[in-house]
Amino acid sequence: MSSSSVRPVALVTGPTSGLGAGFANKLASQGYDLILVARDVERLEDLAGDLERRFGAQSEVLPTDLATQAGREAIAQRLEKGVQFLVNNAGVGLVGEFWTIDPIDLQRQLDLNVTAVMQLTRAALPPMVAAAKGRIVNVASVAGLVAGRGSTYSASKAYVVSFTEGLAGGLEGTGVQIQALCPGLVHTEFHERAGLELASLPKMLWLNVDHVVATSLEDLENGKVISIPGLQYKALTTVSRILPRGVARRVGSIVGKGRGRT
Ligand SMILES: NC(=O)c1ccc[n+]([C@@H]2O[C@H](COP(=O)([O-])OP(=O)(O)OC[C@H]3O[C@@H](n4cnc5c(N)ncnc54)[C@H](OP(=O)(O)O)[C@@H]3O)[C@@H](O)[C@H]2O)c1
Repeated sequence: MSSSSVRPVALVTGPTSGLGAGFANKLASQGYDLILVARDVERLEDLAGDLERRFGAQSEVLPTDLATQAGREAIAQRLEKGVQFLVNNAGVGLVGEFWTIDPIDLQRQLDLNVTAVMQLTRAALPPMVAAAKGRIVNVASVAGLVAGRGSTYSASKAYVVSFTEGLAGGLEGTGVQIQALCPGLVHTEFHERAGLELASLPKMLWLNVDHVVATSLEDLENGKVISIPGLQYKALTTVSRILPRGVARRVGSIVGKGRGRT
């Protein structure tokens, strides 16, 4: 990336597919240069070439496993130099009951879904606060708002929601905006990677990437700290807030097919 670049810079984790690819494309189309962080170097380089051809965006490709401390430290060091937009998007679900899953996989999920979000946000904020300008989107999930659907995955997303809401209060008046994006089911590689079979779920529950990304950016523009794309999920999360916790947990477990996922 040229040091004389005057384009703002956005760092997106997990841009090799799904929502991360959607954010990288949308931000490039809005004039951002990109820092692309995921493990698959070939897909990262293909994406970088594509963003340059289509939008004239320059990309820094940083192949990294964010489930490792060394990987997170490398990206934190890059963020400390300053970016204008951070999208903490990379995350994974696991198939199987909690008590059957390899503890190493459970720890990697926690390190990616929670520790990376916390550490990268910590690294990105000082230059943003100093510049009185900056934006952070932390990709959580409806699973972080509605009880009864999976265990460690939901808990990791509840952390992201709570962390982001708390931080939003602290950032008021600094010029830095932060959002927890809470999508329901989105057509991406997520479920295939996790080994989840959800084909029997009603079509109306599925969202597409472009809609989720557009809603997130529009909500950020309007200062919304929690972004819930789709009327069906706005309704679901509202109802679950009103219902007694036990009833909400039962409903969440039936709708979200809580068994066999972690
Ligand atoms: N799809 C849904 O229904 C849904 C709903 C609610 C929330 N979400 C959340 O949305 C976010 C994006 O998921 P998606 O649906 O777009 O899934 P996806 O298509 O599977 O994309 C996941 C991305 O994360 C990257 N990634 C995975 N493990 C990584 C690691 N250890 N280090 C660095 N990068 C890693 C992957 O790239 P590499 O394999 O190249 O590393 C990929 O780019 C996640 O946080 C997920 O929890 C998804």
